[in-house]
Amino acid sequence: MRSVGSETALDTFVDLEPASDDFRADVLAGLAAPQKAIPSKYFYDETGSRLFERICGLEEYYPTRTETELLSAHADDLGALLPAEASVIEFGSGSADKIRLLAEALRRPRCYVPIDISRGHLLHNAELFARAHPDIQVSAVCADFTKTVDVGAIVPAGPRIGFFPGSTIGNLKPDAAVDFLRGAAKTLGSGGYLVIGVDLKKDRAVLEAAYNDAEGVTAAFNLNLLRRINRELGGTFELKDFEHCALYGEAHGRIEMHLVSRRTHRAEVAGATFDFAAGETIHTENSYKYAVDEFHELAARAGFHPALTLTDPLDRFSIHCLRAE
Ligand code: TRP
Repeated sequence: MRSVGSETALDTFVDLEPASDDFRADVLAGLAAPQKAIPSKYFYDETGSRLFERICGLEEYYPTRTETELLSAHADDLGALLPAEASVIEFGSGSADKIRLLAEALRRPRCYVPIDISRGHLLHNAELFARAHPDIQVSAVCADFTKTVDVGAIVPAGPRIGFFPGSTIGNLKPDAAVDFLRGAAKTLGSGGYLVIGVDLKKDRAVLEAAYNDAEGVTAAFNLNLLRRINRELGGTFELKDFEHCALYGEAHGRIEMHLVSRRTHRAEVAGATFDFAAGETIHTENSYKYAVDEFHELAARAGFHPALTLTDPLDRFSIHCLRAE
């Protein structure tokens, strides 16, 4: 951990950025598997983080605006339920937009700890938040938030609130989601709250459009993964050899994103060779959708009880306030 200099409004910056060795090892192992796959956390380099912000503003991508509307519309309910003078820990803070709304709803929040894997993006957005809220102590942590981060040294005593918006929980397989929630429960402590955004099951056409926008921003975001591999790992992918694909699988209740090889070809990464058949895919993301009851069951497996559940009038998105046992 280090304290940051006087040129910044941040209280502390903790740098646990994953090493590039991890990226290489994960990509090589993922491409060697029978179903080629790359962990979705690697989407978020600087370009990927910027493209993701554009996705959040797209007409077809209803989750961001619906969640934002829920946070504003229910600010009073959230303020009444959640403890005053709390420290808010945000898992995967990204653009740190939604924390503004939660911070406004809360009574005298004391401290904000954004955790994100994209270092430059994290520092920039944490800094903006700190300048806009001089009365809130801001400590940024660069880390993979699915790994348990010990925030004990930077979070003051008092109530803790976890914040996990954007239905990012849906990007974990259900068992991994439960593991994450167990870790969060531990971090937040008994009686701590987690405010978590979860996308709801709905009509396939609405779901698929959200992950395959007309402008092609999501396609560019998916393909940027290959560009990153080319740049950072000496990859030889030709982007035109791949096509973005996002389909809803009813059986799993999830959107699956793939990069589909348009032709039979061979590519190299870090000196290793990988063969692609025409139509073969690299699986790059899952986005699970949960009905309210399904999500309550999942949360219960991690020792969380529902304290408040918010949904919009069109039943597109949910925000759960969960309380740790
Ligand atoms: N948490 C977001 C979701 O599942 C992440 C996301 C949105 C995403 N669009 C994407 C991830 C496109 C990869 C590609 O909705």
